[in-house]
Amino acid sequence: MADGHHTRIGDAAPRHEGRVKVTGEARYPSDMPLHNPAYAWLVTSAIARGRIKSFRLDAARAVPGFIDILTFQNTQGQVKTLPAFGGGSSTLTLESDQVQHDGQIIGVVLADSLEAAREAAYKVGVDYEAQTPTAGFDSPGGTLKAVTDFNPKYHLPTKGDAAAAFAAAPVKIAADYETPTQHHNAMELFTVSCEWTDGKLTVHEPSQYIHSRAGLAAFFGMDQNDIRVVSRYVGGGFGGKSSGTQRTALIALAAKRLKRPVKLVATRDQGYTINTYRAETRHHVKIAAGRDGKIQAFIHEGTEVTSRPSNYMVGGVQTTGIFYDYGAVATKVSILQADRNTPGFMRSPAQVPYMFALESAMDELAYALNMDPVQLRRINDAQVNPINGKPYSSRHLNTCFEQAAKAFGWAARNPEPRSMRDGDWLIGWGCASTCYPSHVGASGMRITLTSDGTAKVQVAFIDIGQGSYTLVAQTAADRLGLPISKVAVEMGDSNLPPGSIAGGSNGAATSAMAVANTCEILRDRLAQAAVKANAGPLAGADPAALTLTAAGLTGPRGSESLKTAVGRLGGIIEATGEYAPPGSPPGAIQRLAMGIPSFAGGHNAKDYVSYAFGAQFVEVRVHARTGEIRAPRLVGAFAAGTIVSKTMAHSQLMGGLIWGLSSALHEATEIDHRAARYTNDNFADYLIPVNADVRDVQVIFVPEQETMLNPMGIKGIGELGNVGVNAAVANAVFHATGKRIRRLPIRIEDLI
Ligand code: MOS
Repeated sequence: MADGHHTRIGDAAPRHEGRVKVTGEARYPSDMPLHNPAYAWLVTSAIARGRIKSFRLDAARAVPGFIDILTFQNTQGQVKTLPAFGGGSSTLTLESDQVQHDGQIIGVVLADSLEAAREAAYKVGVDYEAQTPTAGFDSPGGTLKAVTDFNPKYHLPTKGDAAAAFAAAPVKIAADYETPTQHHNAMELFTVSCEWTDGKLTVHEPSQYIHSRAGLAAFFGMDQNDIRVVSRYVGGGFGGKSSGTQRTALIALAAKRLKRPVKLVATRDQGYTINTYRAETRHHVKIAAGRDGKIQAFIHEGTEVTSRPSNYMVGGVQTTGIFYDYGAVATKVSILQADRNTPGFMRSPAQVPYMFALESAMDELAYALNMDPVQLRRINDAQVNPINGKPYSSRHLNTCFEQAAKAFGWAARNPEPRSMRDGDWLIGWGCASTCYPSHVGASGMRITLTSDGTAKVQVAFIDIGQGSYTLVAQTAADRLGLPISKVAVEMGDSNLPPGSIAGGSNGAATSAMAVANTCEILRDRLAQAAVKANAGPLAGADPAALTLTAAGLTGPRGSESLKTAVGRLGGIIEATGEYAPPGSPPGAIQRLAMGIPSFAGGHNAKDYVSYAFGAQFVEVRVHARTGEIRAPRLVGAFAAGTIVSKTMAHSQLMGGLIWGLSSALHEATEIDHRAARYTNDNFADYLIPVNADVRDVQVIFVPEQETMLNPMGIKGIGELGNVGVNAAVANAVFHATGKRIRRLPIRIEDLI
């Protein structure tokens, strides 16, 4: 750290809450002590489509400790669809006899112990009237809708006559790509505890957005200020914990009925159906170029699966359609409604599937042109949105490629497929671009500074493991002139000043700006008091010229200690500040607190478009006889504006690269198409990389000055690392084997 005391932005500060996490002192929501709780266990449907004819409950009721079971029969009229931010809640629960997807919540058993609740739930008998379900693509009976059918205002990037330009171009490829269903599988399960006291509700629940309580308030017809949500530590979110959900409302309802706290810890397999997931997608891509490599036409048509009642989609053509300096562009998005639970956000929701298609197609085009794929990307780089000519706020994709290629040793690559070999192992080198829209939102903030040189920062923001505690503490330390160890951070409680959603990679920019603004209020108050003092080195100085440093308050003619400066104002001062970026709706902070977050930047900026960028390089080794695939080397270089917490950012990007590897080679939720049922809904069968799969992972930060998005120049990095790696791996597999795999994940059976 710069001067041994004063922690600065950009320093490699250690994880601020690391000690409490590794010692077990950190209390996750399901660890919170409750007085005499009842335990809930979910009963979920065994069919994907149809209706419930009757329940057989005698055996369940006979279990010692059984208290009650909520079903549609005894909750009718009290249960309604929860208005959820981001379409995030699953479909119906306990609203009627209808079953809309496998694993739908159809009952909540309540008992005096966890064991009794579980036993009783397993003894619930259900008689169904079942219909044949539609599982998704390749199952008959789905409803296909174009985005324009349900959202005529949706912006589909379009430029010129892409079909004609494609037909006329000398070099072209057309290909279909496919990505599978994935589930977030955060380590921490979906849990919720609810407690009512004097008509007020307290919810302990892992959440990425503390103000999603607004949906709950609507459900119970109560003032949201009478609901307190506490979520101090979250064991992984990845987009899966960003919305209010039906199950929270059901547990709150149960607690209200029993007049007793109720606690639910849903099982791993239930988590696959009572929550959102990443939907499977299909893509038809056509790219054509001149012999010089300049792209003349780009056509991207994507289709995504969703549930029957939902129009949820991610529509990634908004990214791919403006990514390169294309000639003509045509894009289209469709959804297929099937008998499935509703999908939702999952880390880089739009970019992971859509960039896989684009970045695979770019590699195919490079081979068709007989051109180096890095060179192809370089000559088609776009400094402005090719559709409307508005600039990218900053874009250093080419620098990322240069630095990553150098670190990787790309120059030694022989482009010929199957040309590089080490004994029985075919070696493949591949690369791809990554990107993620750079968002910034609104946030409140409260900071208390004490004359002993400690500070406390309070905000209803969330740390889902991505490093928010560290980032908030580090920004405050930077601006107050303190070591980070002297800054305490309190987050994850709706009683605190409104905080941003931990999603859309906005949190770093948003929270750092709110911290900086609030520190400026503190500095200004100290400065004003110091210059007004009768004596002292700062008396009569220009308050704007005084800075806060480790030494205290410093002016042109000297400085005084924090003890003196804060002591003058009673030894402790508190400031409440906020940040709302230009372009925010009026009352952005109030809206935020009401469960309606708003983002500036990304695609929402009026005069520019803002993204973070990166280049991904991968080495794979494919065994010539067995088809076994290994990926010993991953290199990513990223340009994302100001990096606040170097260690946290490094971990996020490294984790992202590994997740990208997972998306290429491991992850898929398997679906039994006859039953529209997930079959590998557990950690044993849902493949994720283990240590043996991950070898050398290198993260390079490319320095970048961003001036349009926010005054601190911060872009988010949370969802940047995992995009593009899937394509880089597929491209490397082609280089190794000569086989182009267009459907993820890539498996041994694809290669032998
Ligand atoms: Mo992220 S999918 O916006 O939590």
